[in-house]
Amino acid sequence: MGLLKILTYPDPALRAKAKEITDIDGALQRLIDDMTETMYAAPGVGLAANQVGDLRQVLVIDVNTREQSKYSLIVLINPRIVSAQGTVEGEEGCLSLPGFNVVVERAEQVFVKGLDREGKEIGIEAAGLLAVALQHEIDHLRGRIILDKASPVKRSFYKKRALKKSLAE
Ligand code: NI
Repeated sequence: MGLLKILTYPDPALRAKAKEITDIDGALQRLIDDMTETMYAAPGVGLAANQVGDLRQVLVIDVNTREQSKYSLIVLINPRIVSAQGTVEGEEGCLSLPGFNVVVERAEQVFVKGLDREGKEIGIEAAGLLAVALQHEIDHLRGRIILDKASPVKRSFYKKRALKKSLAE
Protein backbone atom coordinates (compact mmCIF):
# COMPACT_ATOMS: atom_id res chain seq x y z
CA MET A 1 0.00 0.00 0.00
CA GLY A 2 1.16 3.47 -0.67
CA LEU A 3 0.28 6.90 -1.86
CA LEU A 4 0.73 7.56 -5.55
CA LYS A 5 1.78 10.81 -7.15
CA ILE A 6 -1.17 12.55 -8.78
CA LEU A 7 -0.08 13.88 -12.15
CA THR A 8 -1.13 17.37 -13.08
CA TYR A 9 -1.75 19.13 -16.36
CA PRO A 10 0.06 19.20 -18.83
CA ASP A 11 1.26 15.66 -18.14
CA PRO A 12 0.65 13.63 -21.36
CA ALA A 13 -0.88 10.72 -19.39
CA LEU A 14 -3.95 12.93 -18.89
CA ARG A 15 -4.44 13.00 -22.66
CA ALA A 16 -3.94 9.29 -23.27
CA LYS A 17 -6.73 6.79 -23.86
CA ALA A 18 -6.56 4.09 -21.21
CA LYS A 19 -6.61 0.48 -22.39
CA GLU A 20 -9.23 -2.10 -21.62
CA ILE A 21 -8.16 -4.50 -18.88
CA THR A 22 -8.17 -8.21 -19.64
CA ASP A 23 -6.24 -9.54 -16.64
CA ILE A 24 -7.41 -8.88 -13.11
CA ASP A 25 -4.52 -9.93 -10.94
CA GLY A 26 -2.85 -9.01 -7.66
CA ALA A 27 -0.83 -6.22 -9.28
CA LEU A 28 -4.01 -4.56 -10.56
CA GLN A 29 -5.67 -4.94 -7.18
CA ARG A 30 -2.67 -3.29 -5.53
CA LEU A 31 -2.99 -0.40 -7.97
CA ILE A 32 -6.68 -0.12 -7.05
CA ASP A 33 -5.86 -0.11 -3.33
CA ASP A 34 -3.17 2.53 -3.81
CA MET A 35 -5.50 4.65 -5.94
CA THR A 36 -8.16 4.41 -3.24
CA GLU A 37 -5.71 5.48 -0.54
CA THR A 38 -4.46 8.31 -2.75
CA MET A 39 -8.01 9.52 -3.47
CA TYR A 40 -8.93 9.61 0.23
CA ALA A 41 -5.67 11.32 1.17
CA ALA A 42 -5.94 14.02 -1.51
CA PRO A 43 -8.86 14.31 -0.57
CA GLY A 44 -10.99 13.79 -3.66
CA VAL A 45 -14.24 12.10 -4.63
CA GLY A 46 -12.75 10.19 -7.55
CA LEU A 47 -9.56 9.16 -9.28
CA ALA A 48 -8.84 7.60 -12.66
CA ALA A 49 -5.73 5.53 -13.39
CA ASN A 50 -4.43 8.06 -15.95
CA GLN A 51 -4.06 10.53 -13.12
CA VAL A 52 -1.43 8.34 -11.48
CA GLY A 53 0.27 7.51 -14.77
CA ASP A 54 -1.24 4.08 -15.33
CA LEU A 55 -2.98 3.74 -18.68
CA ARG A 56 -5.48 1.04 -17.82
CA GLN A 57 -9.24 1.53 -17.58
CA VAL A 58 -9.84 1.64 -13.87
CA LEU A 59 -11.34 4.26 -11.58
CA VAL A 60 -12.29 4.69 -7.95
CA ILE A 61 -15.06 6.93 -6.59
CA ASP A 62 -16.49 7.70 -3.17
CA VAL A 63 -18.75 10.75 -2.97
CA ASN A 64 -19.88 10.23 0.63
CA THR A 65 -17.78 13.03 2.09
CA ARG A 66 -19.81 15.46 -0.05
CA GLU A 67 -23.19 13.81 -0.56
CA GLN A 68 -24.91 10.78 0.89
CA SER A 69 -24.97 7.85 -1.52
CA LYS A 70 -26.23 4.28 -1.39
CA TYR A 71 -22.80 3.26 -2.62
CA SER A 72 -19.67 3.51 -0.51
CA LEU A 73 -16.38 2.98 -2.35
CA ILE A 74 -16.92 2.22 -6.03
CA VAL A 75 -14.21 0.46 -8.01
CA LEU A 76 -14.86 0.15 -11.74
CA ILE A 77 -12.75 -1.66 -14.30
CA ASN A 78 -13.53 -1.04 -17.99
CA PRO A 79 -16.47 1.24 -17.15
CA ARG A 80 -18.95 2.27 -19.81
CA ILE A 81 -22.04 4.44 -19.72
CA VAL A 82 -24.89 2.35 -21.07
CA SER A 83 -27.65 4.91 -20.62
CA ALA A 84 -27.94 8.57 -19.68
CA GLN A 85 -30.86 10.88 -18.97
CA GLY A 86 -31.44 14.58 -18.42
CA THR A 87 -28.88 17.34 -18.14
CA VAL A 88 -27.46 19.17 -15.18
CA GLU A 89 -24.87 21.92 -14.79
CA GLY A 90 -22.45 22.15 -11.92
CA GLU A 91 -19.03 23.44 -10.99
CA GLU A 92 -16.29 20.82 -11.11
CA GLY A 93 -12.69 20.70 -10.05
CA CYS A 94 -10.05 18.07 -10.68
CA LEU A 95 -7.07 16.85 -8.67
CA SER A 96 -5.00 17.05 -11.87
CA LEU A 97 -5.93 20.71 -12.43
CA PRO A 98 -5.14 22.44 -9.14
CA GLY A 99 -6.85 25.79 -8.73
CA PHE A 100 -9.13 25.28 -11.71
CA ASN A 101 -12.93 25.14 -11.56
CA VAL A 102 -15.39 25.21 -14.38
CA VAL A 103 -19.13 24.78 -14.87
CA VAL A 104 -19.74 21.58 -16.81
CA GLU A 105 -22.91 20.23 -18.36
CA ARG A 106 -23.46 16.53 -17.65
CA ALA A 107 -26.19 13.95 -17.86
CA GLU A 108 -28.31 14.04 -14.71
CA GLN A 109 -28.60 10.27 -14.37
CA VAL A 110 -26.43 7.52 -15.74
CA PHE A 111 -26.32 3.77 -15.71
CA VAL A 112 -22.74 2.53 -15.83
CA LYS A 113 -21.52 -1.01 -16.28
CA GLY A 114 -18.09 -2.43 -15.59
CA LEU A 115 -16.22 -4.93 -13.50
CA ASP A 116 -15.54 -4.69 -9.79
CA ARG A 117 -12.20 -5.30 -8.02
CA GLU A 118 -12.69 -9.07 -8.32
CA GLY A 119 -13.71 -8.97 -11.98
CA LYS A 120 -17.42 -9.45 -11.40
CA GLU A 121 -19.79 -7.58 -13.74
CA ILE A 122 -21.59 -4.76 -11.92
CA GLY A 123 -24.04 -1.99 -12.78
CA ILE A 124 -24.20 1.35 -11.01
CA GLU A 125 -27.34 3.44 -11.13
CA ALA A 126 -26.35 7.00 -10.35
CA ALA A 127 -27.81 10.47 -9.95
CA GLY A 128 -26.56 13.68 -8.34
CA LEU A 129 -22.88 14.03 -7.53
CA LEU A 130 -22.20 10.35 -8.15
CA ALA A 131 -23.49 10.59 -11.73
CA VAL A 132 -21.28 13.64 -12.32
CA ALA A 133 -18.24 11.97 -10.76
CA LEU A 134 -18.70 8.85 -12.90
CA GLN A 135 -18.83 10.93 -16.08
CA HIS A 136 -15.82 12.99 -14.98
CA GLU A 137 -13.68 9.91 -14.24
CA ILE A 138 -14.77 8.02 -17.36
CA ASP A 139 -13.77 11.13 -19.34
CA HIS A 140 -10.29 10.83 -17.78
CA LEU A 141 -9.99 7.26 -19.10
CA ARG A 142 -10.75 8.61 -22.59
CA GLY A 143 -8.07 11.32 -22.26
CA ARG A 144 -10.59 14.11 -21.66
CA ILE A 145 -10.27 16.69 -18.90
CA ILE A 146 -12.49 19.52 -17.70
CA LEU A 147 -10.10 22.09 -19.14
CA ASP A 148 -11.74 21.22 -22.49
CA LYS A 149 -15.06 22.46 -21.11
CA ALA A 150 -13.83 25.98 -20.31
CA SER A 151 -14.12 29.03 -22.54
CA PRO A 152 -11.12 29.63 -24.84
CA VAL A 153 -10.00 32.62 -22.74
CA LYS A 154 -10.19 30.76 -19.44
CA ARG A 155 -8.49 27.74 -21.01
CA SER A 156 -5.54 29.66 -22.41
CA PHE A 157 -5.10 31.55 -19.13
CA TYR A 158 -4.86 28.30 -17.20
CA LYS A 159 -2.61 26.68 -19.83
CA LYS A 160 -0.14 29.56 -19.62
CA ARG A 161 -0.11 29.45 -15.84
CA ALA A 162 0.38 25.65 -15.78
CA LEU A 163 3.18 25.87 -18.35
CA LYS A 164 4.97 28.52 -16.31
CA LYS A 165 4.67 26.36 -13.19
CA SER A 166 5.94 23.22 -14.95
CA LEU A 167 8.95 25.13 -16.34
CA ALA A 168 9.74 26.42 -12.87
CA GLU A 169 9.81 22.90 -11.38
NI1 NI B 1 -10.40 14.83 -12.56
